[in-house]
Amino acid sequence: MSSASFNDELLVFLGQSPTPFHAVANMSTLLHEAGFERLDETLPWQLKKQSHYYVMRNDSALVAFKTGALAVVSDGLRLAGTHTDSPCLKLKPSSEIHRHGYLQLGVEVYGGALLHPWFDRDLSLAGRVDFQTHSGELGSTLIDLREPIAFIPSLAIHLDRDVNKGRAVNPQKELSPILLQLPAGEDFSLDAFLLQHLRQQNDAEDIDKILAHELMLYDTQAATMVGLQQQFIASARLDNLLSCFLAIKALLASDDSHASVLVCNDHEEVGSVSSAGAQGPFLKAVLERMIAAEDDSSDALERVVRQSMLLSIDNAHGIHPNYADKHDEKHRPVLDGGPVIKINANQRYASNSRSVAFFKSLCAELGVPCQSFVMRNDMACGSTIGPITAAELGITTIDIGIATLGMHSIRELSGAKDPEVLCNVVTRFYNR
Ligand code: CO
Repeated sequence: MSSASFNDELLVFLGQSPTPFHAVANMSTLLHEAGFERLDETLPWQLKKQSHYYVMRNDSALVAFKTGALAVVSDGLRLAGTHTDSPCLKLKPSSEIHRHGYLQLGVEVYGGALLHPWFDRDLSLAGRVDFQTHSGELGSTLIDLREPIAFIPSLAIHLDRDVNKGRAVNPQKELSPILLQLPAGEDFSLDAFLLQHLRQQNDAEDIDKILAHELMLYDTQAATMVGLQQQFIASARLDNLLSCFLAIKALLASDDSHASVLVCNDHEEVGSVSSAGAQGPFLKAVLERMIAAEDDSSDALERVVRQSMLLSIDNAHGIHPNYADKHDEKHRPVLDGGPVIKINANQRYASNSRSVAFFKSLCAELGVPCQSFVMRNDMACGSTIGPITAAELGITTIDIGIATLGMHSIRELSGAKDPEVLCNVVTRFYNR
């Protein structure tokens, strides 16, 4: 596959995945089309060798795996991990606000979002809606309004002359988008609007009422190639849907020799503590059942994990030419400079010299250069699912990712070549 067609598919995936729910649904479609069988966590599993399976949890996290030809207890597992969530504005449960003739929506800030870029964007709304049918059954469905239905206007500079000297955003006061002008005395119910939308979209006539939702605002500007020579990918949610896409492509492209796993957790941006997050039991529960199909002795998981490796894939901070002093002078990854190895002495990243050596040798086999990132000592280091999963499972782990600018903005920037290059490295990892 050439970079152009790889990136074409990537841009479509990014555009169709405004929320973790949509990302997991789209990954599920890719897996289903490739012949992966979906497993239900509530039923017993009958797993076969050289077979392909996947499991979803909370509609927002996914584990996909190939059982491989070789015995997992003597050959170990090859794991890759990513996360499906991105910082965003999420609707509060009772979100309608009437103020000064406008209908607005109350939002919570999800994760460490850069707030200023959310102003002056054509915003839409997507997520999961949970409902009750006329016969009293509970159900849920995904919704994506697609149209720009909301806007958070900046305050004019004339009303805040000092704004360019640095203005803090009060997330409770200043982030409510405007949806429409609503005369005093008129009412608007978001649930009624969503119900009408669902009825127009599909066979939702059975829905009696909406009981709850998890809806997120997103920028309707499409993911695209930018730059004088189209060298960059500009999109929302590159952190970390870029990694989800390249990792699932790698799993699909891998051969069937080794037992291979991809975990895509939710809730990384808010600390990973949830049933679908990396600090929850999801991955371990799947691995226990996967390994028990071959060896049901009580120490089988331990024996397998000690001969396995996890690539934790998440974006890395590329050097920004306007802010070069924010990087350590010896660790300045560039876009399209190859995969970035992330290292932190305080274990905010899980890489150690053994996993770094392994990853470097993997890249060298393909002639791929790699870079490294270490946070400055006078700045706080971010983290990933890497250290959490390493601590939960006891698995040797390396934190890697693609150099990116503007991480956690509403629109981020990566190189055009890096995604497919890293995909090839991860495929090699699964096959090695
Ligand atoms: Co991330």
